[in-house]
Parts: sequence; C-alpha cells; structure tokens
Amino acid sequence: MNHAMPAKKELRIAILGYNFMGKAHSNAWLQAARFFDLPLRPVLQVACGRKEGAVRAFADNWGWKNVETDWRKAIAREDVDVVDISLPQHLHHEVAVAAARAGKHVFCEKPMALTVAEAEVMLCEAEKAQVVHYLNHNYRRTPAVRLARRFIEEGKIGRIFHWRGAYQQDWIVDPNFPLTWQLRKETAGSGPHHDLNSHSVDLAHYLVGDITSVSCLTANFIKERPLPSDGATAFAAGAGGTTARGAVTVEDASLMMVEFANGAVGSFEATRFAPGRKNRNSFEIYGSEGALVFDLERMNELQFHSRRDPEHAQGFRTILATEACHPYINHWWPPGHVLGYEHAFTHGMVDFVASVANGTPLEPNFRDGVKCIRVLAAALKSAANGRKEWV
Ligand SMILES: NC(=O)c1ccc[n+]([C@@H]2O[C@H](COP(=O)([O-])OP(=O)(O)OC[C@H]3O[C@@H](n4cnc5c(N)ncnc54)[C@H](O)[C@@H]3O)[C@@H](O)[C@H]2O)c1
Repeated sequence: MNHAMPAKKELRIAILGYNFMGKAHSNAWLQAARFFDLPLRPVLQVACGRKEGAVRAFADNWGWKNVETDWRKAIAREDVDVVDISLPQHLHHEVAVAAARAGKHVFCEKPMALTVAEAEVMLCEAEKAQVVHYLNHNYRRTPAVRLARRFIEEGKIGRIFHWRGAYQQDWIVDPNFPLTWQLRKETAGSGPHHDLNSHSVDLAHYLVGDITSVSCLTANFIKERPLPSDGATAFAAGAGGTTARGAVTVEDASLMMVEFANGAVGSFEATRFAPGRKNRNSFEIYGSEGALVFDLERMNELQFHSRRDPEHAQGFRTILATEACHPYINHWWPPGHVLGYEHAFTHGMVDFVASVANGTPLEPNFRDGVKCIRVLAAALKSAANGRKEWV
C-alpha cells in the first residue's frame, strides 16, 4: 500500500540580494515549511546577485537551486512565481514594478521606496497585476507585538492618548565607519528616518491608527566618512574604510511629533548614535485604562499596566509571550523557550504563502507601505522647512 502524501504544489522563489536580508529570508523560507503546515511548498529556485562567485557560494550554502547575475533575468524566468526583494531600497521600485508586470508575487523589504510617487506606482502595478504584495515590516509578527494589538482590540488600555516610539542603534558612532549605501541619499532615501522610523511608523499605524499630520527635526553629526572599500557592509563598525572621504548625505537622527486620526498624539526618535542601544525598537502606548511597553531587545516580553487592577496591586507586569495561546508560538517550542529575531521573518513567509494559496488578506502590503512613506516624506518636508509647519 502506498502511504505517500500527495505532493504539494510548489511556490518557486527568486531572491534578489544575498547579504543581511538575503540570509534572513533564505532561513525563513526554509523554516516556514519545516515548522508550519503550509498550503504550498516554497522552493528556493534562484538566487541573484551581481558577483557570480559570491552568489554561487550563497546559493550553495542555503540550497538555492540556480543563480543569476542580472535581476531582470531572474524575474523573467518561467520557473519563478515569487520575487523576494532583499535589495537596497533605491532598487525596490524598479524591481517590484518589473516583477508585478511579469505576473510574479512580490515579497519586498522595507522601506518600500525612496519617494511617495515610487511607492504609489508599485501599489498601482501590483494591484493591476493582481499579485500578492507584501512589505516586510517584520516586527508586526513578533508574538509580543501581536499580543499588544489583541489587548488594544479588547479595550484593555481603553482610549489611546500617547504613542512614544524610539528606535535606537549605535553602529555608526565611530566617525571612521565607512560611507556605506545606508549613508547616501540616492541609495537609502534618508538615514534612520527611512530605515528605522519606517518600522516604527508601521507599528504605530498597526497599533494606534492612521497618522494625519507630522512635524520633524533631523540632525547630522558626522559630515564626512571614509569611502568604503569593496565589501564593506553595514553592522561591521570600522570595517573596510579607505583613506579617501565622501559626504554623508542623509541625516543621522530624526525626531518626529505626530497627530493620529483618533486624537492620540505621538513621538518618534530614530538614531544610529545611541551608544549601548544595539537594536532597541521600543514603544510605549498609554490609554485611559492602562499602558503597554515593548522593546525588541527583550522581544519575548510585553509589559502591561492596567488601571482596572485593584489599586494596591497596580503596576507594570511583564508577560512572557511564549505560551501556546500566544500568536504563532504553538508551532515552535514549549513555553519559555524563547523566540528570536529570525522568527518574525518566518511568520511573514507563512502568512505570505497562505495569501498566495488561499487569497487571505495580507498586511502590511503596498497600500500600508504607501501610507507609511507618505508620513516619512511629510516629515522630511517639515524638517526641511525648519519645522515651521505641520505637514
Ligand atoms: N526588515 C528588517 O528588519 C530589515 C533589516 C535590515 C535591512 N532591511 C532592508 O532590506 C534591504 C536590504 O538591506 P541589507 O541590510 O540586506 O543590505 P546589504 O547591503 O546587506 O545587502 C544588499 C544586497 O543587495 C545586493 N545588490 C545591491 N545592488 C544590487 C544590484 N544593482 N543588483 C543586484 N544586487 C544588488 C548586494 O550585493 C547585497 O547582496 C534594505 O532595503 C534594508 O532597508 C530590512
């Protein structure tokens, strides 16, 4: 008797970019199929990068079947269903539009694009082509953040008054850190404002609601840096600089104040100049009935204060969001066997595959991305005007 299960239909992926996000995504595509019962079987079909030797080594390590050195060829392949954009953001627009026009589903890294106009075209083309489009604001998919959203929906913190977001890192405090693509306007759009505030604005939209107006201050602390030698990448402080120097053309810090449609107000701080803060994506939300606090450096925990607790017992409690009843957890480890950075990526892949297979709604998508980029762009306009106006 043959007990073989019927083979699942394949979902063949092309990944563009093979460094930080290339690794995070490769791992997540693999783990998604191992830990979750997916309706389709992700196949690591093609890895694409400009340097053949490097992309081949990457493909061999992660199990990608083929390699390409031109992203246009990777997208055009008939054996590809999904284009995974793990490239710097100046390429997102052109690549996502080409992918949608070729009828490929798009899994795209954040920030969505450099400008509102680019983001709007990406959304328009993806909707016209009726492909699944996803923007990887991965922090929405940590169990503790999902739990925060559930508490808000259940009314546990009541009417929201305040959002306080701070996304702090410290990887470019050293003035000799090289001028990588993240520090140039033409490749990054802006500095931590696009890179980090993009995540924070997405979380604020997800947890509090739409932002309607913004005022912003930006600062630049280091004006010039050594030009990078070939191979210098972010997160390797001091690595690979040459003696020639070039201008830093993005801000080093961004501080925003916002109003939400529901009457709440908020502040956002994004910086790579906060020594000791490695990847501190944190928020505090205060409402009429209580408060929620999250910090990615302690990502399994959600702090919750309830004004409904008996007065003598009030105070912040720390919930370890690793019980089987918490989102996604029953697919992983027993309670208390904590999750890490990579798991939120895996959850993104799981929900993406379900959306392709069953048409289930998927967020954040390019519509959410356009909203996010609009806030970021309005903030930069305010900063350029010396904060004389709310935009
Ligand atoms: N979701 C997150 O938490 C998160 C974290 C880090 C970065 N990101 C985003 O992911 C994207 C990629 O960032 P990264 O940190 O992986 O960058 P990276 O510099 O580590 O890798 C970029 C990759 O793109 C390749 N590349 C650059 N130009 C190319 C071209 N013209 N054709 C083909 N390949 C090209 C590089 O060779 C490299 O493999 C960025 O948009 C970034 O903002 C998201």
